[in-house]
Amino acid sequence: MADDTTPLNKYITLPKVELHRHLEGSLRLSTMLDIARKHGVTVPVSMLNLSGLVQVQDKDPLTFSNFLEKFKTLRLFYKSPDVIHRVTREAVEDAARDNVRYLELRFTPVALSRAEGFPLHDVMDWVITSAGEAAKDFNIKVGLIASVNRHESPELAEQVAWLAVEHQKRGLRGLDLAGNEAEFKSAPFHEIFKEAKGSGLRVTIHAGEWGPAENVRDAIENLGAERIGHGVRVLEDESITALAKERGTTFEVCVTSNFQSGVVNELEKHPLPRMLEKGLKVTINTDDPSVSRITLSNEVQLTHEKLNVSMDTLKKSVILAAESSFLPEAEKGELVRSLKSELAV
Ligand code: HPA
Ligand code: ZN
Repeated sequence: MADDTTPLNKYITLPKVELHRHLEGSLRLSTMLDIARKHGVTVPVSMLNLSGLVQVQDKDPLTFSNFLEKFKTLRLFYKSPDVIHRVTREAVEDAARDNVRYLELRFTPVALSRAEGFPLHDVMDWVITSAGEAAKDFNIKVGLIASVNRHESPELAEQVAWLAVEHQKRGLRGLDLAGNEAEFKSAPFHEIFKEAKGSGLRVTIHAGEWGPAENVRDAIENLGAERIGHGVRVLEDESITALAKERGTTFEVCVTSNFQSGVVNELEKHPLPRMLEKGLKVTINTDDPSVSRITLSNEVQLTHEKLNVSMDTLKKSVILAAESSFLPEAEKGELVRSLKSELAV
């Protein structure tokens, strides 16, 4: 949810589940301005100028480097524990307002800790506490995933993975590998992800987005991915498509993000419908609602109206997202049952 001016969307009435949303890509523009004014962040304090730095614009180059560049500016805002509390709370509130019933929110501890040198442990604690409080206050279920970036150090990733394992009891469910897939291999992270999985963390990997289908195989076989962030390039290789199908891998597809970061040249030609035809498990997600200036309801609308996916299939994808969530079995069963009954699927 970009800001308070976002028009209401009729798909808001559909109860939804989101598996792929980054906290750092979910900051309201109005909150960023407020933080910039209060904390003296050295960015423009007019909405128009700030938007260009942290949100994709119509005139922007549609490239992954332009997309990732926004996160460099976004790192400047995490100036105090209160800021981290506020942005976490608002991200949960915005999802609840969009009728998301279960949000699996991922956050990048290294990004949140960087501006002020906060210990990773504290940052994790703040996000977990705020997300839990917000979930109660806004009547939404929230699970958390810790993200590490391919383009940052494996040593930091190891620390994050270790802390994530320690925080499992408090609702931290999984580990994610994000960042610059076009220029950085996953090999330095293989062992970290294997160990994390062995310790009970669930695994989702950004792959086949800015890198080839082979990265989807790598994510499944070498990193233990149960879910793939994006993965839309999987269709470039039939054997990897077959592997994902056989393993029951769920794809967290983010249509607008893919268009804005240059994965697809035309929205209407997005491979999502072909992924469905191939029998892959496809879910609909925002990735970074503020950076992309979208809501999950917008993405449902786009998928239905521009990609011609039926509402029946979209309802099934909500159930599939719940089934693919990293919730403990009993909680997951409850969520799936209540959504099935509400959606009459
Ligand atoms: N890919 C990789 N890293 C990211 C993304 C993405 O789509 N969004 C935020 N960090
Ligand atoms: Zn992502």
